[in-house]
Amino acid sequence: MKNRTLIGPFKQIIPMTGINLKGAISDHELEIIEDGGILIEDNLILATGNFEDLKIAYPEAEIHPLKGNHVCVPGFVDAHTHICFGGSRAKDYAMRNAGKSYLEIAHAGGGIWDTVTQTRKSSLEELTKSTIKRANRHLKNGTTTLEVKSGYGLTVAEELKMLRAIKNADNEALPELISTCLAAHMLPKDFDGSEIEYLKMISEELFPILKEENLTHRIDAFIEQSAFSADDIQAYFSKASEMNFDIAVHADQFSAGGSKVAVEFNAISADHLEASGDTEIALLAQSDTISVALPGASIGLGCDFTPARKLLDAGAALAIASDHNPGSAPMGDLLTQASILGTFQKLTNAEVLAGITLRAAAALKLEDRGKLEAGLLADLAVFHSDNYQDILYYQGNLKPCMVWKNGTLVFD
Ligand code: NIG
Ligand code: FE
Repeated sequence: MKNRTLIGPFKQIIPMTGINLKGAISDHELEIIEDGGILIEDNLILATGNFEDLKIAYPEAEIHPLKGNHVCVPGFVDAHTHICFGGSRAKDYAMRNAGKSYLEIAHAGGGIWDTVTQTRKSSLEELTKSTIKRANRHLKNGTTTLEVKSGYGLTVAEELKMLRAIKNADNEALPELISTCLAAHMLPKDFDGSEIEYLKMISEELFPILKEENLTHRIDAFIEQSAFSADDIQAYFSKASEMNFDIAVHADQFSAGGSKVAVEFNAISADHLEASGDTEIALLAQSDTISVALPGASIGLGCDFTPARKLLDAGAALAIASDHNPGSAPMGDLLTQASILGTFQKLTNAEVLAGITLRAAAALKLEDRGKLEAGLLADLAVFHSDNYQDILYYQGNLKPCMVWKNGTLVFD
């Protein structure tokens, strides 16, 4: 007999089922299971429904009883983070808020290169440990799956160190970690050659090792004036596609251009999009590429938010991620940031919740999570409340009282 557990009764379960991947969603479209139960078999959901009905239908299930009011939503998926890093950029943050420019901060030794220097000084063990610590903090806030990028190594050996640290961290961290190679984060200051030469070296020397060691199946690049141009990246993404890597793009953060490349390469996601205009929005909406808003970077930098309302109204699929990194998004609190994006962009509860559950899972091409449905992973975020609207109403200050990952209670 398999191991079956029935959790409940929940005041409300919001299973996020029956929701389209793309476009605007009204709150009326959210299914609400009142007085519900979730039946788990090993790591998967076997059934959801009325708690008393499930108790009768599955008398053999061990009951995990709940007292008081509880609301359950799918465990959150954070589809874009940089939580593997060394050092701190508190100085950048203070300088930026004191009115210093990007160049002044770079000249004072700040910016992405500062984190590269600090990360290179960190050992594999140190990076593994700090990544686990940060990932477990995200889990307490309800995130059961986290994407984690490299991109602070910028040599073959240092990128490998980061990706190995992320892989090791995944073995121990409570959330599942999905790694991405972001060796195309910037041209390293100590590389003797052009952008194109650096990208050629990475694709020829690093990509085969990523496959051999099964370190990642995802390649990301920062397309921006301060990083790589749309032209620079063509051969790099072509090579990545030939080798069957999935592509993601840091696109349109400060200037438009990356989203067009993302759509051309049929990228899984185009992330940032703060500078996307009507042309880019239309292009993304017509494509299969998921648009990922990163409100944590807007809050961290004091910049505009991604035009999430316009993207949804145009028919795009919108995910929301934390971008947790030491430079532009140090807060690392997905629920707070998603709630705030909702207030500034006038997003419905359904749109925000979809952005951090099923639509975020799609941004990582994960079909086994993001909804509470039979056959999917039993990843659950549970809150003390009698009304699911409280989750966003408290803007991240209502924390989960319980988190389940792969059918196991990992936090309560
Ligand atoms: O997603 N935009 C580029 N990369 C990161 C920032 C990384 C950093 O500043 O360290 C981002 O915001
Ligand atoms: Fe990022």
